[in-house]
Amino acid sequence: MTDGAASRIAGRKRDHLRIHLENDVQAGGDVWRPYRLRHDALPEVDRDKVDLRTRFLGTDIGGPLLISGMTGGCDEAEHVNDHLAAAAAEYRVPMGVGSQRAALAHRDLRRSYEVVKDHDVPLVLANLGAPQLVEWGAKTALAKAEEAIAMVEADVLALHLNYLQECVQPEGDTLGAGVTDVLAALVDDLDVPVLVKETGAGIGGDVARRLVDVGVAAIDVGGLGGTSFSAVEMHRALAEEDALHERIGRTFYDWGVPTPWAVEECVTAVGAEVPIAATGGVRHGLDGAIALALGATLFGMAGAMLRAADRSQDAARAEVRAVLEEVRTALFLTGSADLASLRRPGVWLERPAPRSV
Ligand SMILES: Cc1cc2nc3c(=O)[nH]c(=O)nc-3n(C[C@H](O)[C@H](O)[C@H](O)COP(=O)(O)O)c2cc1C
Repeated sequence: MTDGAASRIAGRKRDHLRIHLENDVQAGGDVWRPYRLRHDALPEVDRDKVDLRTRFLGTDIGGPLLISGMTGGCDEAEHVNDHLAAAAAEYRVPMGVGSQRAALAHRDLRRSYEVVKDHDVPLVLANLGAPQLVEWGAKTALAKAEEAIAMVEADVLALHLNYLQECVQPEGDTLGAGVTDVLAALVDDLDVPVLVKETGAGIGGDVARRLVDVGVAAIDVGGLGGTSFSAVEMHRALAEEDALHERIGRTFYDWGVPTPWAVEECVTAVGAEVPIAATGGVRHGLDGAIALALGATLFGMAGAMLRAADRSQDAARAEVRAVLEEVRTALFLTGSADLASLRRPGVWLERPAPRSV
């Protein structure tokens, strides 16, 4: 990749942060609304004794929250990752960085990712995009993945699926044929587990089955209901006066499988084999607790964490603490002493309306 190409990626990363912080880029409405947790007026457990600890990909973590990978690759990202990593270390929760593609080509951009190593984060997720793996081919993809993992001393590699976003970018990578084979080769050759995530359009049960069949160790459903990259790229296209991509972004604004449906489908299809993470429109610990009751191992938050981390390290710590306290409250009020108990039958009420995807 040329220096020009790398700086274009850095510019894009900067745009993503700015657009997210300055605009409403949420899609899909309130996807959690059809669900309720059943109140237990006689909880028979002390709130302070509720146990939020769990295990994720072989690591003990302090609570069922994943700070989803967002950024890196531009100067502005360094303080965001630093603040998020400080919060993740304090509350013992896992954290991902954003796509490391730019830093693989441009060493100057590495610091914005490497900053996570200044903190004792219990589980760090490196990040690359599956569409780029296809372009690179299996051999180059393996070398780049190993470099990305080493850059942040990651415990897990997260590979993101973002074909919707790529469709709304004039420069988007839209090679899909062969993507499963490249993924399969990478899963076989790497020494760390691979988590595959969507980034707002969701993973359904059929795709989850195909991913687990090639050896993927965890799935983050990345469903509709929160940050929409169709919306983010639409704003970029608007600024660039690119009418075609602005229009595609607008048309596909609400595209995708809503997060709770994706969780239900993935848990049914592969939940007995791999952990399922629920990211996409989780606004607080109560949305997260619904995802856990539906069978997710943990839930992920990106946008809400970004807004806090952009303010200060204290704000990032306060956000993580508040979310975990909300989960604790939901467990207490459902009479659940721990996360396993929250998943017992009958804890969530009201099935969603008949679905048409
Ligand atoms: C500014 C921003 C940048 C993101 N960049 C990446 C990325 O580089 N790689 C990735 O896997 N996901 C990325 N994501 C997607 C998030 O990890 C997450 O899947 C998505 O935002 C949905 O979660 P939310 O509704 O809580 O924001 C990004 C999200 C935001 C808000």
